Amino acid sequence: MYIVWLLLFQSLIAFILVTTNVNGLEWTQYHNLDEIYEWSNELEDRFSPFVTVYTMGYSYEKRPIKAIKISSRSGNQAIFIESSIHAIEWISSAVSTCFFNNLLNSNDTNLQDLLLHYDWFLVPVMNPDGFVYTHEVNRWWRKNRKPTGVSNATGPCYGTDLNRNFNYEWSKSGYQINDPCDHWYHGAAPDTEPEILALQNFINGFPDNYIRLYLALHSYGNFVLLPYGHTIEIFPPNYDQMMRIAQGFAEAALVRYNTTFKYGASGLLNYSGYVSGDAKDWAYGMKNIPFAATIELRDSGHYGFLLPADQIIEVCNEFTDGMVGLIKAAEKETILIPKI
Ligand SMILES: *[C@@H]1O[C@H](CO)[C@@H](O)[C@H](O)[C@H]1NC(C)=O
Ligand SMILES: *[C@@H]1O[C@H](CO)[C@@H](O)[C@H](O)[C@H]1NC(C)=O
Ligand SMILES: *[C@@H]1O[C@H](CO)[C@@H](O)[C@H](O)[C@H]1NC(C)=O
Ligand SMILES: *[C@@H]1O[C@H](CO)[C@@H](O)[C@H](O)[C@H]1NC(C)=O
Ligand SMILES: [Zn+2]
Repeated sequence: MYIVWLLLFQSLIAFILVTTNVNGLEWTQYHNLDEIYEWSNELEDRFSPFVTVYTMGYSYEKRPIKAIKISSRSGNQAIFIESSIHAIEWISSAVSTCFFNNLLNSNDTNLQDLLLHYDWFLVPVMNPDGFVYTHEVNRWWRKNRKPTGVSNATGPCYGTDLNRNFNYEWSKSGYQINDPCDHWYHGAAPDTEPEILALQNFINGFPDNYIRLYLALHSYGNFVLLPYGHTIEIFPPNYDQMMRIAQGFAEAALVRYNTTFKYGASGLLNYSGYVSGDAKDWAYGMKNIPFAATIELRDSGHYGFLLPADQIIEVCNEFTDGMVGLIKAAEKETILIPKI
């Protein structure tokens, strides 16, 4: 049975290689939510039964929050990726979708192995309302669009920073998290926002130990940020192990364009400093996923959030290289055990 399945799968890869233009996305420009969702559905049509699109739940403004799953066979461990939880960080969903495209279409045996050995999940746009708002109204928007119930002299203030609202050491530390009118507002209480509840509900539906890596894609700064976000007084039990895995990413991501990724606990890296209630800490601290990280993509501040679209392919290449290195390191640490 296994051999038959494997052969089937490899012929699928061969089929894909001769079928160019698998989908409607091109990674030479930034795409809006409808285009990303249409691409997701086309992947499902094209690669069924290996690709499935789920609706995890709905945003405050009732947009679906979709997750794409790739699974070549049963019994694989899973790797979970999310992007565009911060609406302004367009490069994150551009790169995560490009990476999935690479996984499904590459003739590189490293990537073909990753496709075969693991189940892959991608939530391309964690914050659809904010994402649409950045495309249609205000390119600089970061939060979701739920009213906070608070007004200032300018009028009502909207939105919670979804990556501060998770219920793990919520509100312990962080920049401007208490101001409902600011970009980093952590919400009135932990776990109040429909977008992160949809994610949590989806992840809670899987057996323990199925998801082994959790990667939250963000920009910018070129960092691999590890738990814990709220303190550098204490470190996770397997912090050294996570550091070796992050190093695997950084070393592989450096090769092609000499892009340097720094790695370590959020509070050590002089980025935005401490952060609490973010997704990686929830994944690690509440869900016991043994490697969880926030990956801050390009650049290191020149363009910042407004990274030109002509860099998408390069960032995707260095991220893809980095993922190959990260997974090799995670296998060495036996955090990941590939099903052979
Ligand atoms: C594999 O991909 C590389 C780079 O994308 C390309 O140059 C090469 O021709 C491809 N090989 C096959 C057998 O398709
Ligand atoms: C009120 O909040 C908005 C964001 O909702 C902000 O842009 C504005 O600067 C704030 N105004 C004052 C007077 O604080
Ligand atoms: C690579 O980047 C480092 C700093 O990040 C720099 O010192 C070095 O000269 C660069 N190497 C090349 C070949 O550009
Ligand atoms: C962060 O900044 C502090 C003080 O500005 C400095 O001592 C420290 O070396 C910096 N850490 C890193 C990782 O750059
Ligand atoms: Zn971010």
